[in-house]
Amino acid sequence: MKTGEIISNKLIQGSYFQVDFYAPEICRAARPGHFVHVQIANLTHRILRRPFSICDCSSDGALRVLYKCVGEGTTALSKLQPGTVCDLMGPLGNPFLAPAADEYPILVNGGYGAAATFMLTKESSNGGLMLLGARSASDLLLVNEYEAAGFEVRVATNDGTAGHQGLVTDLLQQVIQQETTRKWRFYACGPEPMLMAVASILQKNHLSGEISLDHLMCCGVGACFACVVKVKADTPEGWRYARSCKEGPVFNSEQLYLEK
Ligand SMILES: Cc1cc2nc3c(=O)[nH]c(=O)nc-3n(C[C@H](O)[C@H](O)[C@H](O)COP(=O)(O)OP(=O)(O)OC[C@H]3O[C@@H](n4cnc5c(N)ncnc54)[C@H](O)[C@@H]3O)c2cc1C
Ligand code: FES
Repeated sequence: MKTGEIISNKLIQGSYFQVDFYAPEICRAARPGHFVHVQIANLTHRILRRPFSICDCSSDGALRVLYKCVGEGTTALSKLQPGTVCDLMGPLGNPFLAPAADEYPILVNGGYGAAATFMLTKESSNGGLMLLGARSASDLLLVNEYEAAGFEVRVATNDGTAGHQGLVTDLLQQVIQQETTRKWRFYACGPEPMLMAVASILQKNHLSGEISLDHLMCCGVGACFACVVKVKADTPEGWRYARSCKEGPVFNSEQLYLEK
């Protein structure tokens, strides 16, 4: 068990907050795609931790998480003041593989998925492209930070308040049809229906990518099976359950079993 003292915790846009924990030990080991399991200090029933992707880690031990207030845990987290200490488990999970020197990363993200892939910007020598989808312009996260890191950003919003009006998977289809000259490596994180659509598009086009599934979790360390997802397997059904906290959250898109 490690502790993380809150350095700062503030609203950044819409219902998204950024919390920075002082967690040097976790920072030293963190890889893109890892997550931390946070025991939120002021929850009255403190049994369940909440999982969050590690967005960034600095050399002085500051671990950044971007989170959306959606329920009791995240609302309680948003009220914690600097100086509060939380128990953190991490870094957990199976991280993304960094792009090879000749590969061009294409990130396909929805909402806070942009946080989960952000550390890949430090591992790409060729810049990259992020396709980012959200409900509305106010839900588009980290656009300036990705651009500052040398990534091109193309956005899609459901309500048309920024970029293409429609789904981020529309942008992915365009990229696959139009940009044929580079050696791509795909990464994706976001809501599960979006990720299954990304996996389906990649499978149909005989491409593969790495997909981070933010499935509901409980223990976070492989003990309770609350987080299982179907992966392809040599079984009569053609699939088996995999624990996304342990074998994931990052899976190869070819591994995922897509319901017909
Ligand atoms: C590996 C991983 C990484 C994550 N990274 C981030 C992150 O970087 N930023 C962020 O904002 N959130 C992230 N999440 C989701 C985050 O853990 C949940 O939003 C949080 O646990 C909700 O807690 P709560 O008590 O506020 O909400 P609850 O009261 O538990 O739930 C409120 C609503 O949110 C839904 N919900 C809860 N957990 C999830 C989930 N995992 N996926 C989809 N819907 C969910 C519930 O079904 C319910 O409708 C991640 C989840 C996982 C598994
Ligand atoms: S959350 Fe318990 S096994 Fe994955």
